[in-house]
Amino acid sequence: MFRDKIVESILGKTTQKKKSRVPARLDFLQSATGLFLAIFMIFHMFFVSTILISKDFMYAVTKAFELDFFIDGGSSVPVFIAISIVAIIFILHAFLALRKFPISYRQALRLKTFSNLMNHGDTKLWIVQVVTGFALFFLGSAHLYTMMTNPSNIGPFASADRVYSDMMWTLYILLLIAVEFHGAIGLYRLSMKWGWFENGNPRESREKLKKAKWILSGVMLTLGVATLIAYAKIGAEHQAHYGERYTPQAEVKNEN
Ligand code: HEM
Repeated sequence: MFRDKIVESILGKTTQKKKSRVPARLDFLQSATGLFLAIFMIFHMFFVSTILISKDFMYAVTKAFELDFFIDGGSSVPVFIAISIVAIIFILHAFLALRKFPISYRQALRLKTFSNLMNHGDTKLWIVQVVTGFALFFLGSAHLYTMMTNPSNIGPFASADRVYSDMMWTLYILLLIAVEFHGAIGLYRLSMKWGWFENGNPRESREKLKKAKWILSGVMLTLGVATLIAYAKIGAEHQAHYGERYTPQAEVKNEN
C-alpha cells in the first residue's frame, strides 16, 4: 500500500488495478438476451395458440411468416432465418448463464442448505430458475433443432402430426412447464433488479410483482396445455393422412 503511494507520487499515476467492467457487461447481456427470449415466448404462445381459433387462422399466421404477401406461395427461408436468430440468442443466453451455475455438488448442497436455513423466497426462486434453465438446455435445443431442420413443416396438419403421431407432446409438456416457470421468474428478477414498476414501497412492489409472476405462469401454462390438446386432437383425427398438408377452407370451396 505504502509502496504504491510512493510509486504513485513519483509516476503521478495510480498503480491500483482498475476493476474490470467485463462481469457487469456480461450480466447486462444475459439480462438483455433473457428479456428478448421472454418477450419472444409470449408472442410465440399467441402465434402457436391461434390453432384454438381455427385451422385457417393458424395457417394464415404460418403463411405470413413465410412472407406469402411478398413472395408468391411463401418461402421457408425467412422462417429458417427467424429460427436461426432465436437459436443464436438462446445459445448466447445459455452460455452466459453457465457462469451462475453451482460448479460442484458440494456448492449446490451448500446453496440448498442456505436457502432452507434462511427460508428466503427469492433464493428458492433462483434455485427453480437454475433447475428449469438446466432442463431448457436440452428441451429447448431439441425443439429448435426440429424447427430449424423442418422450417417448411409448420402448419395446422404438419404441427398436429408432429405433436401427436411423432409423439412430440411428451417433449412439449416438459418444455412448456420449464419455459413458463423459467421465463416468469426471469421477468420477476429483472423487474426487481432494474426497478421496473417501483412505487417507493419496495416490500409492496415485491409482493405485487410476485403475484404478477404467478398470474403470467398460470395464464401461459393454461393456454399452452389447451393449445397442446388442440394439436393432439387434430393430430389424432389426421393420423390416417399423416404427412398430408392443410388446404384452407376457401381453396377447398374453389376446387369444388
Ligand atoms: C423461432 C423459433 C421457434 C419457432 C418457429 C417455434 C415454433 C413452434 C411451433 C410451430 C409449435 C407448435 C408445435 C409444432 O409445430 O411442433 C411450437 C410449440 C412449442 N414451442 Fe416453439 N418455436 C420456436 C422457439 C421456441 C423456443 C425458444 C421455445 C422455448 C425454449 C419454444 C417452446 C415451445 C413450446 C413449449 C411449445 C408447445 C406449445 C404448447 O404447449 O402450446 N419454442 N413451437
